[in-house]
Amino acid sequence: MPDSRYSDLDRPPLSEAALNRALVRPGSLWTGVKVVDSTGSTNADLARAAQEGAPEGTVLVAEAQEAGRGRLGRAWSAPPRSGLTFSILLRPTVPLAGQGWLSLLYGVAAASAVRRLAEVDVRLKWPNDLLIGERKLAGVLAERVDDAVVIGMGLNVTLRPEELPVETATSLAIEEAACVDRDPLLRAVLREIEVHYREWTEAKGDVEASGLRSAYLATSATVGRQVRVELPGQQSLTGQATGVDHFGHLQVEAAGEKYTLSAGDVVHVRPAD
Ligand code: BTN
Repeated sequence: MPDSRYSDLDRPPLSEAALNRALVRPGSLWTGVKVVDSTGSTNADLARAAQEGAPEGTVLVAEAQEAGRGRLGRAWSAPPRSGLTFSILLRPTVPLAGQGWLSLLYGVAAASAVRRLAEVDVRLKWPNDLLIGERKLAGVLAERVDDAVVIGMGLNVTLRPEELPVETATSLAIEEAACVDRDPLLRAVLREIEVHYREWTEAKGDVEASGLRSAYLATSATVGRQVRVELPGQQSLTGQATGVDHFGHLQVEAAGEKYTLSAGDVVHVRPAD
């Protein structure tokens, strides 16, 4: 049965019913979890749903994506059921200026959940790549749609070395993690996002009062490091990453000058001491 959903016993399908039972409760952030066998991009689908008025807390999970989108116009691809590819829809009420922190909040929550469940040392490369050592375990893409934000994550769970999209990627299986079961991983990530999102919302987006800045800095593999930032337009900047500002932008000092960067691809140029 080559095309069966059950043909790869290492990669069982997710149960939509079980996820809804576990996550959707009165008062919970999560209002509904839909699992589809295949789609183009869960971010694109939820962006459309957002425009059609879908509620905050909608979750869309795809067992396979045909046109998964990554940051900076890249693609995201993974074999069916080898990882978690899903998106969430949020309608944040905090002041717009501070909403740049939302994608960092997502990274903090996801890293914390994966670290706890899978027992691996996950850190964040600015803005929100999940790394184990210098290898990428997961990526996060946040996209604004009117007053909503759609945030998608691709997490490599059972990918084998020959299936990795690039040499610098990794998976929980390759890292011999304590958990490679997608169901509890997804639940843990969503629950952790809910906790951090509530704290941030109750603090009206104040990253100090909510503890978000300190949580981010404690998880960051970038701040304090020597970095090269590949900027849009084929320019790059090499210097010391010194912090993250009120907008979630990366602060870099280079040749005695201070820069704040809203987008770019960070390369850690020197191993941490
Ligand atoms: C990156 O690191 O470049 C971000 C990758 C984000 C991929 C996820 S997979 C689920 C969601 N749907 C998409 O099309 N992209 C995100």
